[in-house]
Amino acid sequence: MTSGQRPTLRDFLATKWGGNGQLAGLDAVVMAIAEGSRQVQEQVQSAALGGALGVTGEVNVQGEIVQRLDQLSSDTFVQVLSGSGFVAAIGCEEIEHPVIVSQSKPDSYIVLMDPLDGSSNIDVAVSIGSIFGIWRKTGAGDATPSSLLRPGNEQVAAVYVVYGSSTVFVVATQNDVNGFTLDPKTGAYFLTHPDIRIPEKCAYYSTNEGNFESLDEATQQAVLKLRNAHSQRYVGSLVADFHRNLLKGGIFLYPADVKRKEGRLRLMYEANPLGFVAEQAGGAASTGYRRIMDIMPEELHQRTPLILGNKDMVEQSVSLISGG
Ligand code: AHG
Ligand code: MN
Ligand code: MN
Repeated sequence: MTSGQRPTLRDFLATKWGGNGQLAGLDAVVMAIAEGSRQVQEQVQSAALGGALGVTGEVNVQGEIVQRLDQLSSDTFVQVLSGSGFVAAIGCEEIEHPVIVSQSKPDSYIVLMDPLDGSSNIDVAVSIGSIFGIWRKTGAGDATPSSLLRPGNEQVAAVYVVYGSSTVFVVATQNDVNGFTLDPKTGAYFLTHPDIRIPEKCAYYSTNEGNFESLDEATQQAVLKLRNAHSQRYVGSLVADFHRNLLKGGIFLYPADVKRKEGRLRLMYEANPLGFVAEQAGGAASTGYRRIMDIMPEELHQRTPLILGNKDMVEQSVSLISGG
């Protein structure tokens, strides 16, 4: 099927969501993310040429060195989301406090985002990505910081983008996951991965084996069981590792360890959105002890252990990790 016969993201959303009053305005939010990702893709592709590689010299709220592209992508997405008219507040990995967008429409949304995931891979031209969780704003008036502290099970949609050998935009709503590929010539996204379901068979496992000795005994048993039966693939960009596992069948693990008792990854804009995508595609997301999307968050940048992907394999790993 040529791109001429494939629906664009805009047409797809109009057809799929147009009649659904429940999702009013959500297409404007998703299209804003798509436009932001088109701009970020250009920045990523030309970073080395335009002096956008390397670090800003700043340290973010995570205590991590900010890469220039982290800051550029954060600025880009804040701008397009704020301009969409349907976003009331934005939580961002690179910004300590929530960005409140005043005078937003009554039926507007809250967006939590990791604008550039896999920062350690930027300078070496390895796949990176962007991640978005989308909640409906509740209550009248402007959003407040507590508007952003919602459990993942209240998300209405989630999006991730992989800037890899091609730029792939995956959007999920209830039981509905679809992937679109960017045509760099026109800047439009075309449907290339309709109705994504995670394969029953788990082909890959993804974890940083360098942390093995820091894991507790039960978690080591879970990793050993995976090691003996699956191919190991680990990019170091969560989105890229998750995207491969979603399409080909696999499990991603970043468990708690002695160095990181709370885990390394962030609940609100890494685990919740990708957990939402995984579940809508028939997969699962757990801390190793409980469902990610049932966690009631206490603060914007809190971390969590993450076991994500093929449902059976997540359940088997969780029963070993938790002894359940
Ligand atoms: P970010 O670049 O947004 O900080 O995320 C990086 C994360 C995630 O993408 C990846 O799975 C993980 O860091 C890799 O961590 P290690 O380098 O410790 O394996
Ligand atoms: Mn990240
Ligand atoms: Mn990031």
